[in-house]
Amino acid sequence: MKRYNIALLAGDGTGEEVTNEAVKVIKAVGVKYSADFNFEPALIGGCAYDVYKTPLPEETLNLAKKSDAVLLGAVGDWKYDKLPPEVRPERALLGIRKELNLFANLRPAIVYPELTKLSPLKEENVAGTDIMIIRELTGDVYFGTPKGIEIKDGERFGYNNMCYSESEIKRIAHCAFKVAMQRKKKVCSVDKANVLDVSRLWREVVAQVSKEYPEVELTNMYVDNAAMQIIRAPKQFDVILTGNIFGDILSDEASMLSGSLGLLPSASLSDKNPAMYEPIHGSAPDLKGKNIVNPIATILSAAMMLKYSFNLEDEYNTIVNAVRKALKEGYRTQDIMSEGMTLTSTDKMGDIIKNYILN
Ligand code: IPM
Ligand code: MG
Repeated sequence: MKRYNIALLAGDGTGEEVTNEAVKVIKAVGVKYSADFNFEPALIGGCAYDVYKTPLPEETLNLAKKSDAVLLGAVGDWKYDKLPPEVRPERALLGIRKELNLFANLRPAIVYPELTKLSPLKEENVAGTDIMIIRELTGDVYFGTPKGIEIKDGERFGYNNMCYSESEIKRIAHCAFKVAMQRKKKVCSVDKANVLDVSRLWREVVAQVSKEYPEVELTNMYVDNAAMQIIRAPKQFDVILTGNIFGDILSDEASMLSGSLGLLPSASLSDKNPAMYEPIHGSAPDLKGKNIVNPIATILSAAMMLKYSFNLEDEYNTIVNAVRKALKEGYRTQDIMSEGMTLTSTDKMGDIIKNYILN
């Protein structure tokens, strides 16, 4: 039986509740397809700070590095809001992305037919939407230097640096074109080249890389226009390629096409290290322990792990189909609840999906 070693970093808030359900579902896939998915837990975020005085302990990083993949819940809690920036839970997330060189963040925004009514947007506009946002994840203003807050001309002055090297742009562009080749062969690169120098370079390098993919149609869009177009006519997009900060913002925006942040998974890939899979939502500490959060984003993230890290396409489809069946049958966590549907708790949702896989 093939064995897969997965680092399980549940994190803070409701992270544990959602990862529990993902583990349950992956174990069911293991039973069905005779594979051994072995989960090794470790601390990350605020809970790690409580024990180790750092949100990203060496132990956790070492475990992640030697695993075949990493499954992460979420980090952050208000109780850590007063900590200095270098030990805040969010730092762990940025730290692990950088340490594992996870430069390619894939964030699919798919509107399932079962859920078109959920979107705050008009059903006919969102139905059939299937966008893959490819967000660069280890560069940009998130990691650029110099940065800081200092006194200048007698007042405080804060600054960060938006920057990309040619090689950073090249590798994420290749990733986007490769993904597009498996899809509808369209890449829309999003930048702010009318104002920013870094975006001008981005646009030039993406155009150059695109020559190696003659079958893929490349378009460019300014980020302000893209933000509008995603709401106006989301079906025009196939792959959206963009930088770290624009991708952060546009992926939250795109989640509203489907109606809930609780549905959207993500994969963060590198060319050498193990990849990491996490829902795009946060830790929702106010909902912790209530057994009400939606585990589907994390379950779908675990499904992406099977596809992208382990090449288990059938197993991936089995999970996606089980999730869709649960939705079709009317099971709903509170974030996606509507009249006539069956209100379902976090662990019940996991059980239902698990049972569809096994039966
Ligand atoms: C995300 C989150 C993170 C980010 C935060 C928590 C650091 O918003 O994964 O989208 O900005 O990348
Ligand atoms: Mg975000």
